[in-house]
Amino acid sequence: MSQLVLDKATIKFGGLTAVNQVCFELEQGMIFGLIGPNGAGKTTCFNLITGLYKPTSGSITFDGHDLSQYPTYQIAALGISRTFQNIRLFGSLTVLENVMLGTYLRKESSLASALLHGGRSIGDTSRKREFATNLLNVLGLGDLLHVRSRDLPYGKQRRVEIARAMATNPKLLLLDEPAAGMNPQEKVALMEDVKRLRNEFGKTILVIEHDMKFVMNLCEQIVVLDHGEEIARGLPAEVKANPKVIAAYLGE
Ligand SMILES: Nc1ncnc2c1ncn2[C@@H]1O[C@H](COP(=O)(O)OP(=O)(O)OP(=O)(O)O)[C@@H](O)[C@H]1O
Ligand SMILES: [Mg+2]
Repeated sequence: MSQLVLDKATIKFGGLTAVNQVCFELEQGMIFGLIGPNGAGKTTCFNLITGLYKPTSGSITFDGHDLSQYPTYQIAALGISRTFQNIRLFGSLTVLENVMLGTYLRKESSLASALLHGGRSIGDTSRKREFATNLLNVLGLGDLLHVRSRDLPYGKQRRVEIARAMATNPKLLLLDEPAAGMNPQEKVALMEDVKRLRNEFGKTILVIEHDMKFVMNLCEQIVVLDHGEEIARGLPAEVKANPKVIAAYLGE
């Protein structure tokens, strides 16, 4: 059984069909790319998967659960976590604090229980700190734990967002343009680290990205959207050579 299934997922905003009958399936442990020109409906797909929007028609299923039945926080608890195209860190908090916030969404340590214990269960907090610190080490941010997030360069902030998303211990990680604003060396390093999140941590990864080299070298399968509709799918090499895809990007 596929882990995530979009079946004719559709959402309309007034007269605009932002996502139109989109279908794709992710197997557990896959690295899957969602690409397309500006306004194609990629981020809207993430908003549908995370429950921020509910589909006008069609369905989205995760581990057999029909996500239309769940509010966003329960979808997060089912094991879906994301980063944002426009970074959403708490700028005045440190790197470590931002990632520790993510740990409160983990199933075994609900925010409710954290509030009930008034932060007094020190053992628990120190475990969260240790967990967050380990994640930040994995993502190469171990020497920036106590830096205020807003003082970091853009590329590092994107990595903190990935660490925060990982802190919820998701099964599926959605990355919305993780390489945006990075230089070529940072992009190569990020690509290797995203592969590690799959290879070493077993995450399923769905990535939106405009950088073609990044997408083609990272993803195993790709779906291409344009004006809310699928125009191509397949292996990176197939998609890259598809005339419809080339035309869509040239038309941008
Ligand atoms: N809440 C909303 N209300 C109205 N229109 C919306 C809403 N969200 C998205 N749209 C529209 O849906 C279309 C798809 O937007 P979306 O953000 O998904 O594109 P995208 O593929 O992520 O593009 P980009 O590469 O620029 O990030 C756009 O025309 C956008 O203006
Ligand atoms: Mg977008």
